[in-house]
Amino acid sequence: MAQLDWSDLSFNYRKTNVIIVSRYKDGEWSEPVATQDFDLHLNAFAGVFHYANACFEGLKAFRGADGKVRIFRPDENAKRIRRSGSHLDMAVPSEEMFIRMVKQCVKGNIDYLPPYGYGASMYIRPILIGSNPQLGIASSTEVLFAVMCSPVGTYSGAKILTPATAVISRNYDRTAPNGTGAFKIAANYATSLHPYNLAHKLGYGELLFLDPATKTKIDEFGSSNFLAIKGNTYVTPLSDSVLPSITNKTLQSVAEDFGLKIEKRAVPVEELCEFDEINACGTAVVITPIRSIDDKLTLESETIERTITVPSGDECGKVSRRLYDRIRAIQDGREEDTHNWCYYLD
Ligand code: PLP
Ligand code: COI
Repeated sequence: MAQLDWSDLSFNYRKTNVIIVSRYKDGEWSEPVATQDFDLHLNAFAGVFHYANACFEGLKAFRGADGKVRIFRPDENAKRIRRSGSHLDMAVPSEEMFIRMVKQCVKGNIDYLPPYGYGASMYIRPILIGSNPQLGIASSTEVLFAVMCSPVGTYSGAKILTPATAVISRNYDRTAPNGTGAFKIAANYATSLHPYNLAHKLGYGELLFLDPATKTKIDEFGSSNFLAIKGNTYVTPLSDSVLPSITNKTLQSVAEDFGLKIEKRAVPVEELCEFDEINACGTAVVITPIRSIDDKLTLESETIERTITVPSGDECGKVSRRLYDRIRAIQDGREEDTHNWCYYLD
């Protein structure tokens, strides 16, 4: 294994020891195998290459302060990939099989699990794709389920909790009204690549999508959910085009434990200037504070119509920091996991 600098990982692909693979054919899943061959060997006519029937997950494993290995809420990811795959009308792994393969992946790549103390973790990426050769538009009858992983640091590569800038996407949507925004399917990300690239070229860290039906309400960032703090209230959009984030759900429980009021509701764009703290939240980004949000008629236009400066500015907001510290302490085994969110390697 190449020597890794655990303090300088960012969010990049790094080759590990093995990936875990199972194939669904003739009504059953094959016994999952750990293989060092990272090439999936698919027929060029596999449905995924033409009709994009692919969905995936993202979850993390942590080496705790006590030396134990914790996998954070894999049962939730299992449920979500089952929803995504079912929406694509393809066979899905059982929750038990999903968790077993995730554990197998962590075990098989244990050398790549960052040690405690670097703020790093192992990101686990399960994928579910249509694999049988076909020509016409049809759901796949054969499916490949693979679980792979990579050691990661922060998503942006910046120091933990460094505030990022964002821009509103007025002229690009990541999903359609009545579309697939609430499912973690690959096509949603393909749609967001072009506007993301535009935003990144302009120097923004994040891209904020609006509800595609009316373009008047906040949906979510391209990589994560939107969460804001207003006084003693935790505000997050209720929208059927937003991915139900496991991190957001977790943070809501933590916020409740802290005595905050939770508001899951429509968030008008106009309300952006009323929040004390704004964050992106998700497995990869954990909590990433947002320092300012630019609003432009189009991402291509030269003019910035207005800039919303978040009061917490160059710092992570106090409430957000408390939420972050709590979730990370549970993941690292420094505070009691009162909700039983962590799964341990046997
Ligand atoms: N929204 C989008 C579009 C995402 O890609 C992600 C990442 O998974 C999230 C939200 C956050 O979801 P979770 O907290 O389950 O990782
Ligand atoms: C995650 O946070 O797990 C994601 O999938 C976001 C992004 C890396 C696609």
